[in-house]
Amino acid sequence: MDQIVVTGGGPLEGSVAVLGAKNAALKQMVAMLLAPGTHRLTNVPGILDVELMGRVLDHIGAECDTDGHSLVVEIPDDPRPEAPLDLVRQMRASIIVLGPLLARTGTASVAFPGGDDLGARPIDLHLAGLRSLGAEFELEHGTVVGRAPNGLTGAEIDLEFPSVGATENILLAAVLARGETVLNNPAREPEIQDLATQLNGMGASIAGAGTSRMTIQGVPTLAPTSHRVVPDRLEAGTYIAAGAISRGRVRVEGCLPEHLRMELKKLSEAGCEVKRGDDWIEVAGPDRPRPVDFATLPFPGFATDMQPQMVALLAFAEGTSVVTENLYDARFRYLGELMRMGADVSTEWQHAVIRGSGRLSGCPVLAPDIRAGAALVLAGLRADGYTTVSDVQHIDRGYEGFVDRLASLGAVIERRSA
Ligand code: UD1
Repeated sequence: MDQIVVTGGGPLEGSVAVLGAKNAALKQMVAMLLAPGTHRLTNVPGILDVELMGRVLDHIGAECDTDGHSLVVEIPDDPRPEAPLDLVRQMRASIIVLGPLLARTGTASVAFPGGDDLGARPIDLHLAGLRSLGAEFELEHGTVVGRAPNGLTGAEIDLEFPSVGATENILLAAVLARGETVLNNPAREPEIQDLATQLNGMGASIAGAGTSRMTIQGVPTLAPTSHRVVPDRLEAGTYIAAGAISRGRVRVEGCLPEHLRMELKKLSEAGCEVKRGDDWIEVAGPDRPRPVDFATLPFPGFATDMQPQMVALLAFAEGTSVVTENLYDARFRYLGELMRMGADVSTEWQHAVIRGSGRLSGCPVLAPDIRAGAALVLAGLRADGYTTVSDVQHIDRGYEGFVDRLASLGAVIERRSA
């Protein structure tokens, strides 16, 4: 129940290095279930979500050992194919164990995840894809019980929407299915590409990751491997936005600018100076940003996980921006908190109109989810007085040392026990 207290003030200056991507590491931990033995993951962020996924793996019978940013996981010969409600509720991404457990053991019971901070979040596409591979599902007392009585067999699957989670669940089952799976319209996020790289390192045969057509040749067995997690584009984007909002100059090291093309384009349109190298990005923020319209879309569109941080910047713009959120119905919930700080915002369905103003005023706010929590801290960097952000466990889920990193860039910020 800690709080983050940030005092608005001067520009952030300096550089910060990012770690591996949360949304890649979590799925790569699950991918390990596909092969018994000792797996290793490096560049793993020290965040709450990794710890929670470790608990899911523990329940299944794995042993996880962390050493700094390295994770060693021992996967048993006979995994327990289930993820109970208390774990799934804390770690929604646990639903991804369905595919690999079905592929390895022919059965899997995973509590139905239900909704979360971002809305209802159905799993129909996950189940439809796995059904195409031969799985059968029943919802029994709130638990999705899956069986593959005849094993899994490759199929051609047309995803109605390029869902990240559905793509991963199908991929993690298809790698051990008999024959070829063709996945049309899969998610193209960099984290999917990185998952495919890890799986190919384990002996899988996946082509086309990062494109609109993936082909997977099933293999009978996979073997453990060592893999370095791709840099976190969302962590990188958050520190870049922090620099821009504070009218400072921040350089993010160890990231891949190619993974933030749309977000950098929009920051440039807003009047930020953007420089980039092979593995770094430097952004300097203007005194008053220009207004910018944007819509969130699956990669390579503007990331929904960068929407709140961009809106925090546009709250200070000289003019009106229109933002369309296409991924999550509850993603605008934080706008009420931003309005408490004085932002002039109105919403209509999935559209938000942000009339920029020269000043926000610090006050107590609640972090409703990971990215919105980070965005409220960022808004506090430039608000008058101090902003107290509560429910910071959301921020802990996705950012290692968030307060320390911002402080190292010159932010006046501290974490307090409530
Ligand atoms: C992942 C990321 C999350 C990011 C999101 C979109 C992780 C742990 N989380 O979430 O940070 O915001 O990608 O980039 O990697 N949908 C359905 N039916 C389904 C599956 C999804 O209708 O079976 C809908 C969802 O409700 C949502 C949209 O599709 O509206 C996108 O969801 P999806 O791409 O699956 O996101 P996640 O994998 O849950």
